[in-house]
Amino acid sequence: MIANQRSVVVWDKNDAFSQWGPAFQETMPEWRFKPIPPRPVFNFGHDPHPPMVGLIVLVDDLCSKSHQQDISEIETVIARTSHLTRWIGLIDPGCLKDERLMSLIGHNFFDYHRLPPDLLRLSHAIGHAYGMALIEKKSLEAKSGAISQGDEQEMVGSSAPMRQLFQDIRKIAQTEAPVLVTGETGTGKELTAKAIHDRSPRKSGPFIAVNCGSIPHTLIQDELFGHEKGAFTGAHQKKAGKIEMAAGGTLFLDEIGDLPLDLQVNLLRFLQERVIERVGGVKSLPVDVRVIAATNVDLEKAVKAGRFREDLFYRLNVLRLFVPPLRERSEDIELLAHFFFRKFSGEKQKCLKGFSSRAVEAMQGYGWPGNVREMISRIRRAMVLCDNRMIQPSDLGLESRPTKTLGKLKEIRANAEREGLEAALSQTSFNITKASHLLGISRVTFYKLCKKHKLKLATP
Ligand SMILES: Nc1ncnc2c1ncn2[C@@H]1O[C@H](COP(=O)(O)OP(=O)(O)OP(=O)(O)O)[C@@H](O)[C@H]1O
Ligand SMILES: [Mg+2]
Repeated sequence: MIANQRSVVVWDKNDAFSQWGPAFQETMPEWRFKPIPPRPVFNFGHDPHPPMVGLIVLVDDLCSKSHQQDISEIETVIARTSHLTRWIGLIDPGCLKDERLMSLIGHNFFDYHRLPPDLLRLSHAIGHAYGMALIEKKSLEAKSGAISQGDEQEMVGSSAPMRQLFQDIRKIAQTEAPVLVTGETGTGKELTAKAIHDRSPRKSGPFIAVNCGSIPHTLIQDELFGHEKGAFTGAHQKKAGKIEMAAGGTLFLDEIGDLPLDLQVNLLRFLQERVIERVGGVKSLPVDVRVIAATNVDLEKAVKAGRFREDLFYRLNVLRLFVPPLRERSEDIELLAHFFFRKFSGEKQKCLKGFSSRAVEAMQGYGWPGNVREMISRIRRAMVLCDNRMIQPSDLGLESRPTKTLGKLKEIRANAEREGLEAALSQTSFNITKASHLLGISRVTFYKLCKKHKLKLATP
């Protein structure tokens, strides 16, 4: 190996790279090209020294019927690698007509080159990509204390409805009108409200959240509007309410459907006149606050049933955002899972590598009634309970997705074989001797089977 040689990982499902490998090495001796497994049984998303540059080789074969599966494999590879890694595509011109592929390249790649590659141009691109990744790595290291703070609020999603939501959030953030955020429990309504605030001109002001469903009815008035000294027995001092505390910023009213009818009148008055009166007070105080409300119940129905004032509903419903349930954006499931895995990796289980493919399948097949919040708690639990290097469906408390149609016996056998190999590798931390022993087969057979299922064994 040449001193100061830097690694470039290569994803090359169709083994096309081997024909150019020697020429690459000759033209670019400063780089070491390392293949990575086509089926991503690895996870180096939180590797302290992740690869800075990766090549993804796509030959025409990829544009065959199984194209979608290959795209999702590439997405998984990218998701399981550090976000620092810059990807460069080496692409057969025949593949460039595929819209999904172009969108994948546009969103995730640093650059792409047509096959056969122009080695000089490619060596420049690799150098450039490496330089860019290094700049980001250094800047992250310099402010490492602030990263977790930022990540805390990060909203993840690549599905079409989430991309639309991000766009709407950016637009809505620039306005002052009230917003009503709807969606099932745990979908990210509060996160959406916070994202609006953080992108709005009010971002340096406070973001105050009030959960109307969890405060006893008798206390909500005081909680929202505050009180004057002596307003009632025990009111020894004047107290500012949450509306006043949000002055200059945003007030987030969660579970607005639970606000008692009498307080709905007070809130309506505040929204119309922009003034409040503390309990026991006589003067009106002007307060500059933007209101964002959220509900997981159908407010239109509540209006019809007389539980929610129609006039307040129209006041709040000026701008409306819907956060879709997780089961309707299956593309986000794996992305979110890896995001939370990385987020909680610092807490425990440093040797944990990621999710087994069966765990990913089980997550994809599950209905997620508790949405993202449920995913967080299942992943946290799995990360504590998991005894292997890879999280299994049982660690997540999820059965594998039931096979819809049984398929041919040959396929069932092949799947079971692959799953057995993956589980054995995972349980033995990729120790081939132990893994083959566990399955009661020789090392030679083990290697043969891994080759058959394209499971590469060396973790990069
Ligand atoms: N797209 C996302 N990316 C990252 N984290 C998310 C995302 N959506 C939700 N979360 C996380 O999931 C959890 C639940 O989100 P949030 O509290 O915003 O949901 P909610 O819709 O307000 O739930 P509820 O109706 O139960 O109040 C939070 O920890 C939030 O940070
Ligand atoms: Mg909430």
